[in-house]
Amino acid sequence: MAAGDTYINKSLPRVDGESKTLGQTKYITDIEIEGMAHAYPVCASVPFGKVKSVNYSKLSEDPDFITLVSASDIPGQNQVGVIIQDQPLFADETVRFVGDVIALVVAETHRSAVRLAKLVEVEYEKQEPLFSISSSQNSSSNFIHETNIACSHRVQKGDIDKGFAEADYIMEEQFSTPFQEHYYLEPQGCIAISESDGSFTIRGSLQCIYYVQKAVARVMGVEASLVRVIQSPTGGAFGGKEDIPSEICARAVLAAKICNRPIKVIYEREDDFQLTSKRHPFEMKYKIGVMNNGKILAAKVELNENAGAYATLSSVVSYRSSIQALGPYVIPNVEVESTSWYTNLPPTGAFRGFGSPQATFGHERMMSIVADKLAIDPIDFRLTNIIEPGDETITGHTLNHSVGIKETILEAQYKSNWTAEKQNKESERYLTGVGVASSIYGNCLGAAGWHLDGAGVNIQINRDGSIGVAYGLIEMGQGADTVITQMVAEALSVSPARVHIRPTDTASIPDSGPSVASRNVVMTGNAIQDAASKINPVVLDAAAKMMNCASSDILIEEDLIKNLVTGETVVFDKLTEFMHMNKYQVVAHGWWHVPELSFDHASGIGEAYFTYSYATHIAKVKIDKLTGLVQVEKIWAAHDVGKAMNPAGIEGQIEGGTLQGLGWALTENFQLDNGHVTSTNLSTYLVPTAMDIPDVETLIVESPDPEGPWGAKGVGEPAIIPTAAAIANAVSNATGRHFNKLPIIPESVLRELSNPKGV
Ligand code: MOS
Repeated sequence: MAAGDTYINKSLPRVDGESKTLGQTKYITDIEIEGMAHAYPVCASVPFGKVKSVNYSKLSEDPDFITLVSASDIPGQNQVGVIIQDQPLFADETVRFVGDVIALVVAETHRSAVRLAKLVEVEYEKQEPLFSISSSQNSSSNFIHETNIACSHRVQKGDIDKGFAEADYIMEEQFSTPFQEHYYLEPQGCIAISESDGSFTIRGSLQCIYYVQKAVARVMGVEASLVRVIQSPTGGAFGGKEDIPSEICARAVLAAKICNRPIKVIYEREDDFQLTSKRHPFEMKYKIGVMNNGKILAAKVELNENAGAYATLSSVVSYRSSIQALGPYVIPNVEVESTSWYTNLPPTGAFRGFGSPQATFGHERMMSIVADKLAIDPIDFRLTNIIEPGDETITGHTLNHSVGIKETILEAQYKSNWTAEKQNKESERYLTGVGVASSIYGNCLGAAGWHLDGAGVNIQINRDGSIGVAYGLIEMGQGADTVITQMVAEALSVSPARVHIRPTDTASIPDSGPSVASRNVVMTGNAIQDAASKINPVVLDAAAKMMNCASSDILIEEDLIKNLVTGETVVFDKLTEFMHMNKYQVVAHGWWHVPELSFDHASGIGEAYFTYSYATHIAKVKIDKLTGLVQVEKIWAAHDVGKAMNPAGIEGQIEGGTLQGLGWALTENFQLDNGHVTSTNLSTYLVPTAMDIPDVETLIVESPDPEGPWGAKGVGEPAIIPTAAAIANAVSNATGRHFNKLPIIPESVLRELSNPKGV
């Protein structure tokens, strides 16, 4: 078959672009089913306590009220913990955060369900809540679960005492990062149907159909085969629809079974804000031992994460942040401890990067602070310690392939005219500065989630030459369907116009794990190549028969079947008609699993991930000394993506990720009062808009990975990872002060400017 880049490495327009732009796409809220009822959760209004009584007598007179569902109605287990089994579907006795769900009200309309849920009266015996990491750490008797530690991970390599003893300088700093709300444009929602044969069908806005399937099967006490989950078009997720839909869908299924009616649940924005997961706030301590020449000898890192009331995906965040805690650098002596602490706040979980933006803020602020201290240019200091092919990561994994970090630094340095720009300039009103940050990102789930790290695709060639494709991961706005269309076209040498992606459905593909961790292109791309390796020989055999020649005389290229001897050419759909009439059946399942990883969990040593993506961002900022406002004028974003599948799509991911990182760094000031989120909509939680986006220059570096399909690696999460650190470094460079805490709001800029330099 044809080799080379016919359909990949091209900016194919979005296959879902037209229907979305024209408003034709049906999101879950647009779907109505005959006889459907609506449900809404009744939530705890205190952060910590015991439920004494639930009184819903006020509801029974309302003509729209149908029923109230709670823990005692569950036929299976009252448990939806995704990794650690600490999370009931309905609070049975204890509530651990404002928003813990006590019951579900079912009513005739959505409006009535929302209104009636607020009329349920709950009496509590209150307990002393713990909100901060330090209060959780310091509490010796007040435990939110059996202990206040949700999980912890460590990396221990070499001898840090010896390393620090030999170092010329030792520096210590502390950093902290805040909550971040995903603010997907489409709030959480689903529709559940209890079918007459005892099975359940669920449609929803979600990232992980198999997580939902597992949760529903467990709660309803049925086998997974009886739970069919179909993803509806999803208007953004960013990690926020990884585990949360499992609980929303499981409650809806229970209500559907009890009422024998389809049940729809759509969260209001303010409740979505209070009830669903966030990015973990981190408190970080870094200690670095370095030689006069800039070589780092030893590093000790302590990461503490605010996990909120339930562990959810904290262990993924804690694991990943421990592995990546020191970035893309070679350091011989290392000790990293990463711990997630329970508090009485909304559970924090998956958010684009799984702890990477936080850890990157820590190591990249630290790198710039140490470089300043040594009076070495921050880029030169990074290059002195940068990981290159043949070097070891901090977990002792020798990387021989696809290590493009140095190229990303050099590209960004060159394009940004770094040497001239870093001479920060001060005018009467403004300060300007530049900052750099580099990052490393382990692809897919890594050693901690290896058993989940397989994914599949089904490819079916129809008689008319159209090609149906089903895959186990999902499109959530990132452009996956488009890239998968391109990869199928490339693997089969047919026009992308023939390829049609079907909705992701548990009934069509076996458990392919979660749609997270920038997995989709790598996993599905390899599965497509596996399916193509089964289809292509059959197609070639049929083509030889049709053209009456040897299969070695056939070339299939750009949708055409060519007889290389006679020069005869036919289009692909003529061949598929021939195949149908001659007993050829062409459907194949493709599967790929991440290669075996050798890793010791006790020491954190070994192959933590099979490969890594790399990025360097340089930010240029202008600061208004009068108002304290930071304006990001430009970001140069250089990314090693292995191989670019769709360059325009990558540019889109990088612009979006960069803006999301800018919001976390500068404008999104998440506010809480006694466990209640008070910044619950866009008037108080300032998500950056088109007016705030800086000029973003995307620089694509290709360092192909031997395990990646056509060499590709993930880029979805790397897009956000270094942005905030680069901005904070630029603000620190411009002002001569250390900005070690996010968000950098105008008030904090003015406060720092009133302090002497270097403090
Ligand atoms: Mo995302 S943090 O990989 O769900």
